[in-house]
Amino acid sequence: MSAFADTLIRWQREHGRHDLPWQTRDAYRVWLSEIMLQQTQVDTVIPYYGRFLERFPTLASLAAAPVEDVLALWSGLGYYARARNLHKCAQAVMTRHGGAFPADPAVLAELPGIGRSTAAAISAFSYGTRAAILDGNVKRVLARAFGIEGFPGTKAVENALWQLAEELLPASDVDIYTQAQMDLGATVCTRGRPACPRCPLAGDCVALRDGRVAELPTPRPRKAVPERHGRFAVIVADNAVLLERRPPSGIWGGLQSLPELPEDADAADWVARRFGVTVQAVAPLPGLRHVFTHFVLHLAPERVAVMRAAAGRAEEGGAVWQPLDRLAEAALPTPIRRVLENLAAPAQARLI
Ligand code: ADE
Repeated sequence: MSAFADTLIRWQREHGRHDLPWQTRDAYRVWLSEIMLQQTQVDTVIPYYGRFLERFPTLASLAAAPVEDVLALWSGLGYYARARNLHKCAQAVMTRHGGAFPADPAVLAELPGIGRSTAAAISAFSYGTRAAILDGNVKRVLARAFGIEGFPGTKAVENALWQLAEELLPASDVDIYTQAQMDLGATVCTRGRPACPRCPLAGDCVALRDGRVAELPTPRPRKAVPERHGRFAVIVADNAVLLERRPPSGIWGGLQSLPELPEDADAADWVARRFGVTVQAVAPLPGLRHVFTHFVLHLAPERVAVMRAAAGRAEEGGAVWQPLDRLAEAALPTPIRRVLENLAAPAQARLI
C-alpha cells in the first residue's frame, strides 16, 4: 500500500468523521448523499438529507414521485439540475437495473447526474469497490502533497491527477480511504487557512516543504486584462514641463498629469494650437507599461520642445509650467512621474 493511503487510513480511524448520516452500505442512501454533497457542504446537507429520506425512504418511492415533489424537497439547496437528474436517475435504476444500483463505477457513471468521481465514491462506500475519486477536495490535497503544478481544470493536469489518484489506491479499506480524503480536504487541507500542523501528511507534503501551500493548487488563469494605449505630450521649455489637472472622475481623477494627445493627432499641430506655443521639435520617448486593477495602460510619451509664448495662453487653460527640478511638489500619478524622471535623468547626468 502507498504510504499516502496508509497514513490517511490511520488518520481517518482516529480523527475522521464517523457519524455522518450517510455512512452506511445502502447504495440508495449513499447515492443520495453524494448528489447532495456535490456542490453543498455537509452542515447544509444534513437536514435536507433527513427530510428527503422521510418523504422518499426507498428508491422506488422516489422514482414514482412527481418531479415537482422532488424539487420541493430540494428547494434551498440550489443547483436544481441535480434534483431533476436525481429523479431521472432513480427511474433509470428502476428500469435499467431492476431497482439496484450497479457496483461497477463505469456503469454507474452512465446514469444521469453521476460523473466519474461520484460513481467511484458511491461504489467504494456501498460495495467497497477499489475505485479512485477526484473531487475538488481531493484535487487540492494531491496538488499540495505531491506539488502538482497547473490549474486542475485543464485536461492535462486533471489527467495527471487521475493517474496519481489511481496509483495511490490501497488494496483494501477503500471506503475508509475515500472518506479520509474527503474529510482531510474538508477539515484540514482547506482552501484558505489550512491546518498544516495537524495534518497527517505534513511530513511528506511538497507544498509545505517548499512554502507553497497558498499557491497550490494553481488557481484558474486570470482572464486577459484589456489593454489601453495613451499618447502623452511632454511639453518642455526652459527646464519646465507643462502639466494639466485631470478631470475629477476617471483614471488619475484630480491629479496633475501630462496632456493626453488624441489618438490620431499630429503632436506638433495639436500642442501649438491647444497651448499657443511655438513647437521646435518632437521626438518619441521610451514607452511605459502600467498595470491597473482592470486594465493595462501602455503609455507612449512624446517630447515636444517649445518656445513659451510671452502671453502665457497655456496658463489660462489651467495648465502650469512645472520646473523639472521641482517635480516632487507636483501631484503626479506614478507612471507619469516615471516618464518625467526618464526625461530628467540624462540632464542630471550631464551636470556631473
Ligand atoms: N463530500 C462528498 N462526499 C462526502 C461524504 N461522503 N462525506 C463527507 N463529505 C463529502
